[in-house]
Amino acid sequence: MDEFSERVAVVTGAARGLGAAYARALAERGAAVSVLDVLADQAEGVAEEIVSRGGRALAVETDVSDRNAFGAAVDATIRKFGQVDILINNAGLGTTDQTHGVPWYEWPGEAWDKVVAVNMRGCFFGAQAVAPHMMERGWGRIINVSSATFWSPVAEAVHYVAAKGGVIGLTRALSKGLGNHGVTVNTLVPGLTRTEQMDGMYPPEVFEQYARMRSIQRDAVPRDLVGTALYLCSTASDFVTGQAFIVDGGHIFD
Ligand SMILES: NC(=O)c1ccc[n+]([C@@H]2O[C@H](COP(=O)([O-])OP(=O)(O)OC[C@H]3O[C@@H](n4cnc5c(N)ncnc54)[C@H](O)[C@@H]3O)[C@@H](O)[C@H]2O)c1
Repeated sequence: MDEFSERVAVVTGAARGLGAAYARALAERGAAVSVLDVLADQAEGVAEEIVSRGGRALAVETDVSDRNAFGAAVDATIRKFGQVDILINNAGLGTTDQTHGVPWYEWPGEAWDKVVAVNMRGCFFGAQAVAPHMMERGWGRIINVSSATFWSPVAEAVHYVAAKGGVIGLTRALSKGLGNHGVTVNTLVPGLTRTEQMDGMYPPEVFEQYARMRSIQRDAVPRDLVGTALYLCSTASDFVTGQAFIVDGGHIFD
């Protein structure tokens, strides 16, 4: 039997990159997957691909920083598949036009708010949307995605680093309220990982430099994150909650 055939997962930011890799991996193992993203067409493309391979998927155009929109997307998932067991809060935003290449002390407040809203508030709204339902069912998995930049920060991404640190605090506090209801909350922490977006952002030398700093001296690719994500979605992690899992080939040591 497929390990996740009884499960329904919501994956945010799943139209591309790491989120699409989590969505595909869960679907390949039997889960029904809701693909949430602001990129409606690309989210639809991922869902169609999953369905074309015999899987179950739904695409929902969703801005995770909008509480009502997130709630509506979870409701649509429950209408379609009957339940939600897993939420991967993966949607993220590294910078904006107002902050990219601009010194942080000149950033307007709304640029700070935007990055923090997507990366951190979105995780909170996701938890709000699924927690009552998961508690009622007595089982659930919430995985919040942070970043190794919280351990290895850069000034150009003050807003992002602060938000990704907040995600770790959020995870810890949420785990306290949900543990006795069978719902675990953990943080997945990728290091620099080659996705289309990252390849567009950095020259090859940057990836080479990161690879040299790792115990496992090679590029990180999306499938490197998938195993830990699946573990955190599974019953194998039943007694693990409030924790952060750094998956970076041995670069940051916490
Ligand atoms: N790739 C890396 O090197 C790396 C490293 C550390 C952490 N991360 C984190 O992993 C996650 C995925 O990263 P990725 O590299 O795949 O990035 P990506 O940009 O390819 O994917 C992020 C997805 O989130 C979506 N998104 C952005 N704002 C949204 C919003 N308001 N509502 C819904 N969806 C929204 C985007 O459209 C995109 O599909 C992010 O949270 C990122 O911060 C990535």
